Amino acid sequence: MLVKLNDNYKNLTESYLFSETGRRVREYAAAHPDKKVIKLSIGDVTRPLSPAVVKALHKAADEMGDASTFRGYPPEYGYDFLREKISEHYSKIGKGADVKPSEIFVSDGAKSDLGNFVDVLGDNLVLIPDPVYPVYVDSNIMSGHKISLIPSTPENNFAPTPDYISDDAKGQPAVIYLCSPNNPTGAVYTYDELTKWVDYAIETGSLIIFDSAYEAYISGDLPHTIYEIKNAEKCAVEICSFSKSSGFTGTRCGWTVVPDEIETDGVKLNKYWARRQATKFNGVSYPVQRAAEAALSDEGWRESMESVEYYMGNAKLIADVLTEKGIYFTGGTSSPYIWLKVPGGMDSWSFFDYLLNELQIAGTPGAGFGKFGEGFFRLTSFGTREATMEACERMREKL
Ligand code: MLT
Repeated sequence: MLVKLNDNYKNLTESYLFSETGRRVREYAAAHPDKKVIKLSIGDVTRPLSPAVVKALHKAADEMGDASTFRGYPPEYGYDFLREKISEHYSKIGKGADVKPSEIFVSDGAKSDLGNFVDVLGDNLVLIPDPVYPVYVDSNIMSGHKISLIPSTPENNFAPTPDYISDDAKGQPAVIYLCSPNNPTGAVYTYDELTKWVDYAIETGSLIIFDSAYEAYISGDLPHTIYEIKNAEKCAVEICSFSKSSGFTGTRCGWTVVPDEIETDGVKLNKYWARRQATKFNGVSYPVQRAAEAALSDEGWRESMESVEYYMGNAKLIADVLTEKGIYFTGGTSSPYIWLKVPGGMDSWSFFDYLLNELQIAGTPGAGFGKFGEGFFRLTSFGTREATMEACERMREKL
């Protein structure tokens, strides 16, 4: 064939992080059928959908099976009932956050939107804290963008402020990715830190892409949405998800907020994102949007919070073992992830192999989240209580 491919793909690692860890775990399990592997690797939920959500799914399925209530293509940006519910949700979770339904775009999840957003952006400098969710780096590599990494280390409590931008990138307009609570480190930006970012973006004419997929895990007086910060509506897009709050990893629903006020070069960003979605996306199915609406109802959100508490109970069990062992870790309080320093000076992929081979526990090597993640390791609290307890016992005995 003589067709040219996107050469930028040559600059990617061979496989996506979670495909690689998944492959290694599957190979190990196939070679050792007698061993029970506990997966604390990809952040996939194990609690079922809540009763309020399931009830809404059933009802919507019935409507789809009845000629008088059947619906065809959904509106490309989401049904009004869900956009309004998400807007109302912002007024509940964020002090002073005012997000209009017209600024909300319903999607099949945060990962897609994070990956797709590059479509509407030009060739900008891109600032990405490292370590972080690999989708930001990978999708910008695919588009051939220049990336400047911001080291996220114990020195800045894994929540770097603009002070940590490298000298050659500082002060320039850029697309800035922030994730709070952070995947993988669990660090959460404070009001002061996030204000520094918003001020920096306004000052430099930059755009922030704020990933708040783990917002539901925040406890204490910390911002749940970037729109709690003054002027964020002028410089920040926020991407969120029902996956981790309401167990939608297999159901698929999320949203992106593109404020009406964001404008560059005389063009509204909202208009471009709307155009992109209308062209390339046909919306989320009616039953799933009804389920998402139910997840944000008082009853649904209370049930979601029960699952969040359950997972945070798992995080506490893992944290306790690491504390007993004197292993440094962060996360696990406002985040379902525990980010630990690999014991014994091993590199993070060697520790992955060690845990899998010796303890039959699958985790995620820190190096997979970026070069500053080397020497660290991520465990998730999304397992079942039983599996997490067993993993903790194994770590207590053998680590
Ligand atoms: C993770 O494990 O980091 C996430 O579950 C992956 C994702 O949300 O796509």
